[in-house]
Amino acid sequence: MNQDEMKQAVARAALDYIRPKLERDSVIGIGTGSTANYFIDALGEIRAEVEATVASSEASAARLRDNGLPVYDLNSVDRVSFYIDGADESNASLQLIKGGGGALTREKIVAAVADEFICICDQSKLVHTLGDFPLPVEVIPMARSHVARALVKLGGDPVYREGFTTDNGNIILDVYNFPVAAPLEIERKINDIVGVVTNGLFAHRPADVLLLGRPDGVETLKAQ
Ligand code: 5RP
Repeated sequence: MNQDEMKQAVARAALDYIRPKLERDSVIGIGTGSTANYFIDALGEIRAEVEATVASSEASAARLRDNGLPVYDLNSVDRVSFYIDGADESNASLQLIKGGGGALTREKIVAAVADEFICICDQSKLVHTLGDFPLPVEVIPMARSHVARALVKLGGDPVYREGFTTDNGNIILDVYNFPVAAPLEIERKINDIVGVVTNGLFAHRPADVLLLGRPDGVETLKAQ
């Protein structure tokens, strides 16, 4: 399997994983990105069994609707049973870097509400130490320079993501050259900077299950 086929395989594996657990009142949280898109398309095939979804981005909401799936506002549901999303990196504890597509804040909110977070990735995303992938930070526009200076003090090289506005009307700083040896501490420290909405480290709310695409099939990993 090539990388794209691995993404399709994990999307299908996620469907197989949740399908037997679906109940009449299940709400499915949906991530953002190319792997999540494959999941949305697979979910569309069983639309009659899906009561409700909530989306982590406008793009995913539009794709869900295109697939004939019902999309709800998060505030109008009591709970989210599953959250299915890709990632830019995962370590063995299933702590993640997310936000390559810029949807990190809504992704983190839906993940926080979900009973079970199922991450779907091809094998290139599994790393020993998080941070080869530049860490996205969503920032209130007027705080851009202040936050960038604070990120430099923490040891990173923040770069403004040109021409990009998040679904929440904010900007993204991508932090390069920033190996994350202590994800819990760094997630909190960055979020403590005034003007930061949130950052793409998912350490306090890691995935519960990682479905990892390998050339010869899908491996199921739980946090170590
Ligand atoms: C979007 C994300 C995505 O999950 C992440 O970028 C992975 O994307 P893809 O499935 O396209 O590799 O966090 O904000």
